[in-house]
Amino acid sequence: MLLLLSLRLFVLLYTVNGDIQHAFKTHGSKTHLTTFSSAFENYDTGLFTAIGDLNLLSTETSTTLKHPLFPTYSVRVKKSTDFCDGTVNAYTGYIDIEARHIFFYFFESRNEPDKDDVIFWTNGGPACSSSMGLFMELGPCRVQDVNTTKFNPYAWNEKANVFFVDQPVGAGFSYADHGETVSTTEEAAEDIAAFVAIFFQHFIKFAGRGLHLAGESYGGRFIPVFASKIYDQNSHLVEAGFTAINLTSIMIGNGCVDQSTLFRAYYEIQCTNASISPINSISNCVQMRQLVPRCEKWYKESCYDMMDAIACRAAFSYCYDTLETFFATTRRNPYDISKYCEGEHDDTLCYPITKEITAFLNRLDIRETLGVDSLVGNFTPCNMHVVARFGANLDQLFPTQYYIAALLERGVRALVYVGANDLVCSWVGNNRMTLEMDWTGKNIFNAQDLREWRFNGAAVGLTRRAGPLTFATIYGAGHMVPYDKPEASLELVKRWLAGDDL
Ligand SMILES: *[C@@H]1O[C@H](CO)[C@@H](O)[C@H](O)[C@H]1NC(C)=O
Ligand SMILES: *[C@@H]1O[C@H](CO)[C@@H](O)[C@H](O)[C@H]1NC(C)=O
Ligand SMILES: *[C@@H]1O[C@H](CO)[C@@H](O)[C@H](O)[C@H]1NC(C)=O
Repeated sequence: MLLLLSLRLFVLLYTVNGDIQHAFKTHGSKTHLTTFSSAFENYDTGLFTAIGDLNLLSTETSTTLKHPLFPTYSVRVKKSTDFCDGTVNAYTGYIDIEARHIFFYFFESRNEPDKDDVIFWTNGGPACSSSMGLFMELGPCRVQDVNTTKFNPYAWNEKANVFFVDQPVGAGFSYADHGETVSTTEEAAEDIAAFVAIFFQHFIKFAGRGLHLAGESYGGRFIPVFASKIYDQNSHLVEAGFTAINLTSIMIGNGCVDQSTLFRAYYEIQCTNASISPINSISNCVQMRQLVPRCEKWYKESCYDMMDAIACRAAFSYCYDTLETFFATTRRNPYDISKYCEGEHDDTLCYPITKEITAFLNRLDIRETLGVDSLVGNFTPCNMHVVARFGANLDQLFPTQYYIAALLERGVRALVYVGANDLVCSWVGNNRMTLEMDWTGKNIFNAQDLREWRFNGAAVGLTRRAGPLTFATIYGAGHMVPYDKPEASLELVKRWLAGDDL
């Protein structure tokens, strides 16, 4: 969920793994992954009957579905009748991609499952389980304690069929057979593109349905890259005789997309009234004010101009460690600066409910209901080993706005929404990112003023839109908008799915 830029984690990230691997040179290379798209050939439809009706699936045991064209890929899926929602059909299981096994939850829409669009949701981290999003944010139920869940009337499946996917391999209940790992977003994207292709091929009733890729936090990096991979894969799918994936939009919640826009925002959120009133001392603010231009310059030179991994890491760690030290003096919750951290960050992530969710998902009866593979060990909200590997590759420093721009040019809509009290991937930084991004609609977008958007007679936040790109803030929400403002977040999603202005 949260983590990427958990400030403390950053420190961890940069000390855990000392060896640098010349990240910029090897980044994105596929050393151990077979690409799914290379498996495509002309497809004889006579060889395969999709399951079509999901109701045929068993609630007792997992059903394994195979496809003759992809002998090394399969789906293991189980139907649940009353898990979490109780009013809709729910399915859980794995998409098996060779030796890698990606766990998912899929809840049908409470509205019109046979017509509504599909939302794919991932949390961030980069290796936090999407069950955090499910059980504390936008899922059909919320965990109260280890024994109790509560129906969530503002779940996003009010209006869409929704996936929660534990990715990359190593996150949540996802696992690999031989200790295989994924260490960059580009590698993770291969698995997600395969996941999406395989899912829609088997569950043919959803084929061609509008697909919206949504994510939070590190999702600012994941989602644009995943969407691009899915978009590019379509030509292979069509050649092979499959239905193209109808990639309709991306939705990024409190995303960290472009690091270069975040250093200054870090100062602005703490030291101006961009969010709430200033939270840090004048003395700290003055020091940060002087640090920020140096950080921006050093970061640009080492990470962009020279692409020198060692210098880039040094610039980034120095700037973040220093800024983190200033923030730590406030004892506040970095995900919502209007609050103090509840518990110790390393224990609760500032939200004690994460511990209840962990206990809930470690219950054997729950794991049996879900069809969690017995090879999977204890559930943890975030896999720190995977986080460290992504960190070692400097994965989070790759600017992802180029992917967003490329998707916009191809008619894929993009919603960048941000809870206004978050420090970690702040609204100020995201606003700057959308304004600095080069794309055909830039001049029109930048010419719009931010205006308030309203719901039930009250102002919810600020917004700006041109064509396929919408930026929106949500007042009073932190890093996890659906957790803090469930009703407003559902309204946002409804308007977005309908293509309406906010
Ligand atoms: C949960 O249920 C178990 C078994 O009934 C019980 O022992 C335990 O005290 C319960 N825990 C909470 C927090 O209610
Ligand atoms: C793709 O999904 C969108 C959103 O639901 C829908 O308007 C459009 O007709 C779909 N396109 C195709 C080719 O099915
Ligand atoms: C800060 O807040 C005050 C009072 O709410 C407002 O008048 C002022 O315009 C704000 N300053 C900035 C720089 O936005």
